Amino acid sequence: MSEDLVQKRQNVTLVDHPLIRVKLTQLRDKETSPMEFRAILQQLAGLMLFEVTRSLETKSVMVETPLMMEAQGHTIGKPIVIVPILRAGLGLVDGMLWMLPEAKIGHIGMYRNEATLQPQHYYAKLPELKGATVLLLDPMLATGSSSVAAVSELKQHGAEAIIFVCLLSCKPGINRLQMAHPEIPIYTTAIDDGLNDKGYIYPGLGDAGDRYFGTI
Ligand code: URA
Repeated sequence: MSEDLVQKRQNVTLVDHPLIRVKLTQLRDKETSPMEFRAILQQLAGLMLFEVTRSLETKSVMVETPLMMEAQGHTIGKPIVIVPILRAGLGLVDGMLWMLPEAKIGHIGMYRNEATLQPQHYYAKLPELKGATVLLLDPMLATGSSSVAAVSELKQHGAEAIIFVCLLSCKPGINRLQMAHPEIPIYTTAIDDGLNDKGYIYPGLGDAGDRYFGTI
């Protein structure tokens, strides 16, 4: 992915690539079945990871090759913790684990109160976060309420370096997250027009959790 395919603006990285554009279109299509949706969402997570991990620190190591020679190499410098926000964030985990099999996985449970649109926190199970790079996952950055609450929760548990990864975002959600936690880098594949009165991103792709789990 060349630099010109990644646009950076105030801590927001818009990850753009022909494959990402095509797969995102397939996810937006209401005719895409849950089976297809699941596969494509995980593929997109894997494609995004390439950019998300671009600035990961590595440590120098020496290895011995089959030719009995020493070669200078690299290992990941800090532990990586992947934290999906339940439930839709689960849809991004496997695509990332494929490339980061050594990562630990925490979970944060939030659901949206459909009347108030406010996040209700109901679950947190997290490994050691201090000293780790934490990838916080939610496919949709909509109102920003869940992500703001999830980042606060991670900080309370000792997280120092958090990267927020979403598939789709919109300006209100980005603004909300940046107002509350300006230092958190945001990675997204598209910034959509806005939010409807039910807090859904439009044109969006609908309810990511429902489409992933087939609970429509
Ligand atoms: N959550 C979703 O799944 N979709 C939206 O558009 C907004 C929040």
